Amino acid sequence: MILLKSSREIETMRLAGRLADRARRLAGEMVAPGVTTAEIDREVQRLIEAEGAVPAFLGYRGYPKSVCISVNEEVIHGIPGKREIRASDLVSVDVGVLHSGFYGDCAATFWAGVVTEEAQRLAEVARESFFAGFACCKEGYRISDVSHAIQAYAEQHGFSVVRDFVGHGIGRSLHESPEVPNYGEPGRGVRLRAGMTLAIEPMINAGGYAVRVLADDWTVVTADGSLSAHYENTVLITDGEPEILTASNH
Ligand code: MF3
Ligand code: CO
Repeated sequence: MILLKSSREIETMRLAGRLADRARRLAGEMVAPGVTTAEIDREVQRLIEAEGAVPAFLGYRGYPKSVCISVNEEVIHGIPGKREIRASDLVSVDVGVLHSGFYGDCAATFWAGVVTEEAQRLAEVARESFFAGFACCKEGYRISDVSHAIQAYAEQHGFSVVRDFVGHGIGRSLHESPEVPNYGEPGRGVRLRAGMTLAIEPMINAGGYAVRVLADDWTVVTADGSLSAHYENTVLITDGEPEILTASNH
């Protein structure tokens, strides 16, 4: 069942979303050579808790930290720890916030110093592929129109789209119906309606789309060791233009 949100609920989701975006920006500003991923996690947790909110991922299905930090060939769900970020690392940060009963979820890929042109392009294409999908986030379109737009954009730029993990509805739960794949034929799935809130999160690989999970049971890496980038926002469908709830401009 897809839960449509009332205007009051949306107002609260803006609070959660705005804080998730602040947390994402803090994490991005901290990405620098010599900084450990645990340090970033600690500061982000501190920010979220200082605002009276809860880090959404901490304890979620046993996840041990507040932030997912995925470096280079890591796609998603990298667990912060003693690892020091190095110049030339590509660093994907994923942050979730629970605020007043509602979730916000967002991610972005940053880089530490000088990365290769390909790495930078990969991060940019991941972000731009989100916006290709976002352009279809209107009444009259179906879920897979969003999926298809993301896939087409990423593949046109020579990259591949991860299949094994998908975006999702979001609200009072971190993961709600429907699933939002980042690939697929257009014209399938439910029709988008005003009041739907979706976490749209393309995961884009420089090589093949296959991934595997490391022995820590969390970290997802590319099967071929190629670089990966991730970008995500929580999006509200309206009767007009869609709104990014994990944005600072509202
Ligand atoms: N953005 C991810 C998601 O939508 C974050 C979940 S990570 C977890 O599922 F650590 F909480 F599992
Ligand atoms: Co998500």
